[in-house]
Amino acid sequence: MTSPESDLSLTVQELSHAYEELSLLYRLSEVFSCMSIEDICSRIADEAVTSIGVKTAAVLCMDENADKLLTRTSRGDWDNSREFPRDEEILWKVIQAKKPSAFCRLADTEHRNYLPAHRSLMVCPLIGKTRVVGALVVADKEADEEFFSSDSKLLMAISSQAGLAIENALLYAELESLLVGAIRSLVKALEASSCWTAGHTERVTEYAVGIGKVMGQPDDIVEKLKICALLHDIGKIATPKEILNKNEGLDEAEWTEIQRHPGLGAEILVELKQFKDIILSIKYHHEHWDGQKGLYGLKHEEIPLMARILSVADAYDAMTSDRPYRKMLSQEAAVKEIERCSGTQFDPSVVKAFLVWIRSFSPRRRVSLP
Ligand SMILES: [Fe+2]
Repeated sequence: MTSPESDLSLTVQELSHAYEELSLLYRLSEVFSCMSIEDICSRIADEAVTSIGVKTAAVLCMDENADKLLTRTSRGDWDNSREFPRDEEILWKVIQAKKPSAFCRLADTEHRNYLPAHRSLMVCPLIGKTRVVGALVVADKEADEEFFSSDSKLLMAISSQAGLAIENALLYAELESLLVGAIRSLVKALEASSCWTAGHTERVTEYAVGIGKVMGQPDDIVEKLKICALLHDIGKIATPKEILNKNEGLDEAEWTEIQRHPGLGAEILVELKQFKDIILSIKYHHEHWDGQKGLYGLKHEEIPLMARILSVADAYDAMTSDRPYRKMLSQEAAVKEIERCSGTQFDPSVVKAFLVWIRSFSPRRRVSLP
């Protein structure tokens, strides 16, 4: 039988490989680097409209079972809700042939009912490195001309870039959800070992992400903040269960033991080289803004921003949850306490963002807060 520690170290290695792969994909996608799939599709549609001079363009992506094409984005006269199942002849013939095709004067052909709003159509498959990921459709040139071979070449040029970029973005999204899923399973195992912390991690993650967004942090930092919050208490996996589950207040030795969890969490994750800033934020999430009473004596900006955000999110959830040695505070009392500790325990700019979030955006807000 394997121990929880050896299981954990295996999972950490798997996470490390998944993160390596994610980073590689990020580095490889040059033109569309760091763009979401929505942004990539939007950019492709705009490029098709302006380069080829068409009234309509639509980017269609394969659904997850690869038996339907769904519209991801479009410009001009296009029904975004229309799906194209495998038996739809025009699009799927083009996809099978893996090369572009033009269909002029649709009304005079057997395809007249296919897209009746359009006079002429050109379709190109979007081919990634390993699979066809969708199709780019353009319809009706601005000047009501036919499509020329130069138009077809332009469509192919856009499609070849788009296919690779969409495949990369899809792989990135799949890997990201795999990574976050693996982390969530790890956290569930941790929470299962304590009867007092059920749901704590997910709530802290929700609060931290909310604060980060109000502070205007970019998407990649918000994403890191999510991973950071999910893993912030992972060091408690090494804390004896008797301490985590104790039904009365902790004595000094037990407090000292529990206070080791930020450092232990950082040690457990040390192999995740790309997690460097996440690890530091986990290590310092119990530091105090004024440098007093923290575990490592850091103060102000010496404490990483993600750690300062986590600190507020963590404290608010702890205060509004029952603990063995005290009853939970009301939301109003907890908010007042966070405000009272602004400038001492907490970074005032984080508290300010927290107050905006809790009063205006938090889905858990049950009462009007002070
Ligand atoms: Fe903690």
